[in-house]
Amino acid sequence: MIRALIFDLDGVIVDTAKYHFKAWKKVAKKLKIPFEEKENEKLKGISRINSLEIILNLGSIQLPAEEKNHWLELKNNWYLEHIKNMKPDDVLLGAEQLLTKSREEGYKIALGSASKNAILILKKINLINAFDKIIDGNLVTISKPNPKVFLEGAKLLEIPPEECIVFEDAQAGIIAAKRGGMKCVGVGSRDNLKGANVIIKSLEEVVDINTFISDHLS
Ligand code: BG6
Ligand code: MG
Repeated sequence: MIRALIFDLDGVIVDTAKYHFKAWKKVAKKLKIPFEEKENEKLKGISRINSLEIILNLGSIQLPAEEKNHWLELKNNWYLEHIKNMKPDDVLLGAEQLLTKSREEGYKIALGSASKNAILILKKINLINAFDKIIDGNLVTISKPNPKVFLEGAKLLEIPPEECIVFEDAQAGIIAAKRGGMKCVGVGSRDNLKGANVIIKSLEEVVDINTFISDHLS
């Protein structure tokens, strides 16, 4: 029986994936590393530091820790510039309704995000109170595809992993959910969501959470 829903943030609740891409592209350009959407796909769901490592590997570049920190700070500043005017209107279609209705139906709700900016974003979009527990990149630093962020969510909600569903837009997140013993809904394009139990284009497709679970996840 499913009793809890764990949501990724970037690309599921808000369309911030495009801003992460823009900021990383700027870093890559400065480092003269070719970096397009295809390469960016590998960064989705991955922590900030691991994302930089992937980009540096693409360019076969090795940097000392302080230089890496410099790029991490620049990237985050560029990213923050993009999200500074984010507001409740920017919530992706269907997300708020699903969060509200699922709670009314008695499901426990957690956020399971790699982002250290998660709380800032949730405040901007006015969804901070939609979650019973928030697990972000400050609380769990080990990156998806490691399942820690979702397992921590299940633990804090006091629900066994097999009774949780994860909503994810990234391949690394799908792998993390499966490794954690959870069912997983892929949100987005079929090509990047291998192994998901069901794939939807947007949360809007989940009209009734109980019917959705009994149709696709039981
Ligand atoms: C994930 C994004 O949610 O958070 C990644 O999919 C991002 O692209 C990661 O790198 C870390 O985010 P932040 O905000 O801490 O840099
Ligand atoms: Mg995501």
